[in-house]
Amino acid sequence: MVGNLPEFLRDPHGMFIRGYRSLGPVFSVRFMGRRMVVLGGAEGLRFLAKEGRKLLTSKPVWSEFVSLFGGERALVSADGEFHAELRKRLRPSMSRSTLEKRVPEVRDVVQRCLQRWDGQTVDVERFTRDLVFHELAALMDMAGVDPDEYYEDLLRVMHTSVEVTVARRWPRFLLWDPRFRRAKQRITKMGIDLFRTVGESNPEDGLFPILRRCVQDGLLGERDVPLLAITPYFAGIDTVAATLSFVLSAVYRRPELQADLRKEVEAANAALPSGREWLTRLHLAEAVKLEASRRYPITLTMIRHARTPFVYAGHQIHAGDQVLTTPGANSLMEEYFEEPWKFDPSRFVGTNAIRPEPGALNPYGMGPHTCLGAALADVQVIATLALLLELADIELVDPDRPLEMKYSPYPLPKGDKLRIRVRR
Ligand code: HEM
Repeated sequence: MVGNLPEFLRDPHGMFIRGYRSLGPVFSVRFMGRRMVVLGGAEGLRFLAKEGRKLLTSKPVWSEFVSLFGGERALVSADGEFHAELRKRLRPSMSRSTLEKRVPEVRDVVQRCLQRWDGQTVDVERFTRDLVFHELAALMDMAGVDPDEYYEDLLRVMHTSVEVTVARRWPRFLLWDPRFRRAKQRITKMGIDLFRTVGESNPEDGLFPILRRCVQDGLLGERDVPLLAITPYFAGIDTVAATLSFVLSAVYRRPELQADLRKEVEAANAALPSGREWLTRLHLAEAVKLEASRRYPITLTMIRHARTPFVYAGHQIHAGDQVLTTPGANSLMEEYFEEPWKFDPSRFVGTNAIRPEPGALNPYGMGPHTCLGAALADVQVIATLALLLELADIELVDPDRPLEMKYSPYPLPKGDKLRIRVRR
């Protein structure tokens, strides 16, 4: 009955790699009686990118999740022309320039967060989630709202709704838990209030002005607004925080790397401590972020349903089959990377930087639903790392312990704690 679930919960990337090597590029796994077809390796992801629009859909995966928030239309569950149009319109609100234009605000957020934790020891994931949530609140115009009032509600709603309706690892009765219902009500109201009140100060790029134009033009209904208003938090908090956790766990284990990064940050600050130019000077920080995404991949799998029957690598896939691709496992495979288990940012530095084949290193997925916030997430991690190095002296409580991944249920560094001290 449980099938491959215990192995998946213990070592998801390893399970996909072993499946690929022993069974070939297409094989099936079973979770609690549900059979899923895995398109393993880089070719699986390339297939998703090439044929995904025609042969696969994510609608059945996400439709219950979307309807929980009272709407019908959302990015994750949409297909075709409507999806392409909505992506095009929302893209500016989640782009690299969203952060580039607001480095001073992000710096303030990081400073305030460091003040809260000054002198304390904290789990790496708690610290990064706090940072990332407050940064996103500043970047996404949560103006006039105290983000802390909604933090717990957002986390509760996000984890419960995704785990029950999409991953299906948590029992359905949690959807009727009064704490979940109350939190969902508050979050939904917050989305609508922000949609109605956030000013037109940034009419081209802001999330809320864009949503208002989508509703005015009939692309969306008002009922679709609450979920789209909180999409950056749902899509960004856990993912950016987990990536940043691995970055910090890797950097604070390596004094030399830390010293090199500090030098880079000092030089960038001396040239211009803000904006696009500042970010483009942080080459080593960028390589560290990329290598952390490769070596400690946080995307376990992407789920689709087959729209129609098709043949893949000689195997018949039936309409309605659930199809998985494995971006995380791919970046840990010897087939694509030398010594894949080694954390080595120098792979991505200078003129000899490696250029992995398409599908081998795609932490943001591939195809029509590729992460819309990918460029923003990249600079968010890079900028936060740079600001932490500049503003604080941070130490790992146990730097000699090897960095291991735990799955709870998403990948995070196992047991790492940080000591935070603000630089005076
Ligand atoms: C390191 C951080 C992040 C990672 C690893 C990540 C990963 C992903 C992946 C793999 C997908 C594709 C899912 C699929 O095809 O089934 C995705 C979709 C998405 N992500 Fe991210 N993400 C990150 C951060 C963010 C941030 C910060 C935002 C926004 C502020 C964001 C917004 C989105 C949106 C809107 C989608 C849905 C796109 C669509 O369906 O067309 N993500 N993300």
